[in-house]
Amino acid sequence: MIDFELTGDHKTAADLARDVAGKYLRPQIAELDRQQKYDPEFIKRLKDADLLGICFPEKYGGMGLDYIALGLVCEEMEYVDTTARVIFSVHIGLNSMAIYTWGSEEQKQKYLIPQAKGEQIATFGLTEPAAGSDAIGILTTARKAGEKYILNGEKMWISLADVADNFLIFAWTDTEKQKKRDHTGLSAFIIERKFAGVTTGAIHGKLGVRAGITGWVAMQDVEVPAANLLGYEGEGFKIAMSCLDGGRYTVAAGSTGLIRACMDASKEYASTRKTFTQTIDHHQLVKEMFAEMIYGYEAGRLLWLQAGWLKNKGLRSTRETSLAKWFCTDQAEKAAYNAVQIHGAYGFSDEYPVERFFRNSKGAAIYEGTREIHKLMQADYFLGFRTDHEVRCLLPGV
Ligand code: CAA
Repeated sequence: MIDFELTGDHKTAADLARDVAGKYLRPQIAELDRQQKYDPEFIKRLKDADLLGICFPEKYGGMGLDYIALGLVCEEMEYVDTTARVIFSVHIGLNSMAIYTWGSEEQKQKYLIPQAKGEQIATFGLTEPAAGSDAIGILTTARKAGEKYILNGEKMWISLADVADNFLIFAWTDTEKQKKRDHTGLSAFIIERKFAGVTTGAIHGKLGVRAGITGWVAMQDVEVPAANLLGYEGEGFKIAMSCLDGGRYTVAAGSTGLIRACMDASKEYASTRKTFTQTIDHHQLVKEMFAEMIYGYEAGRLLWLQAGWLKNKGLRSTRETSLAKWFCTDQAEKAAYNAVQIHGAYGFSDEYPVERFFRNSKGAAIYEGTREIHKLMQADYFLGFRTDHEVRCLLPGV
């Protein structure tokens, strides 16, 4: 059952990602981050490299690789910068994977194919100004009117909000159930930017991921064809949670890239910086920080690979994905903290990349399930308060 060997396809995917992010993004990321500037050219490079549909079958416009390949791409992306990995989290993890899982054939033809080819960019809208962890607390509504739904509401903290062509939006279709906080009153909709009544904007002044776009989506009387309902009416909460199984996986894998970036930058610095007549990599307390980073990287990688293996088999991986996401983002935060410490005063300035890594590491411990939500989920699984039931649609295996 256990095979730790990466296949030739896995290595090719990782090499391709390293090449695109390394050659194109790395030389300019420090400046983009400093200027809080999004570079639309990067996403075009990802499209040209066919990376935006890496884990979908060729018949749906993808590269036909597996979910481990997706994880490896995320790791390489975040090795360069978190903004690069976030594109994969929302476009693939939270949106395209959901259409692949829950979509009708018509929806796959209309949305998955152009998204996998990178001709259209997609994102995910669950969170609202007053509802994050408490997903049931969202206020957006979708009122049925003949063959259409009329959507009203606002989504917040949405990555790629200002550039996405398509949005997966969650809304209450049953307001009586909303009052009772019954999740079966929620539904999921595919919304196009061009639908009348959709407006978006960017959020400025973020702590990290500054070269990426995070924003809001407002919907005012947006008419959505009934054909754009994803899954059945009332399945929205389950769809949202299954999307998070995809998104959290990409976050976990990406975080190991961030840990590796911290390790490599710190190794380079520590091998040249001298104190007390020797390079600082010879000091025991500095070695301890390296040891902690290695521990986080190696164990974190095994956790997301385990989740990827389950996904490849077409099995449910909610528990394993949550654990991987919690551990990897936790360890990335610690690694970035240690990397700044190893760099001393230089780590406190943007002359070295670790200050950016430090700021970037924070967001992932909050989005796609805070650390606290994952702790609760893990405890509840163990204590028998939570079990994964059968679901109508599961992400297809490879
Ligand atoms: N797949 C399919 N179905 C699932 C599922 C999954 N992964 N997880 C749960 N379900 C189903 C359950 O089986 C259950 O169905 P039944 O009632 O038929 O049994 C139903 O959904 C309700 O599940 P739970 O009882 O487990 O739900 P809960 O109320 O316990 O969930 C929670 C609570 C775990 C805190 C959940 O609300 C949660 O995960 N909150 C965090 C939300 C979050 O991560 N938000 C981040 C948004 S994305 C973002 O931030 C990034 C961006 O840029 C857009």
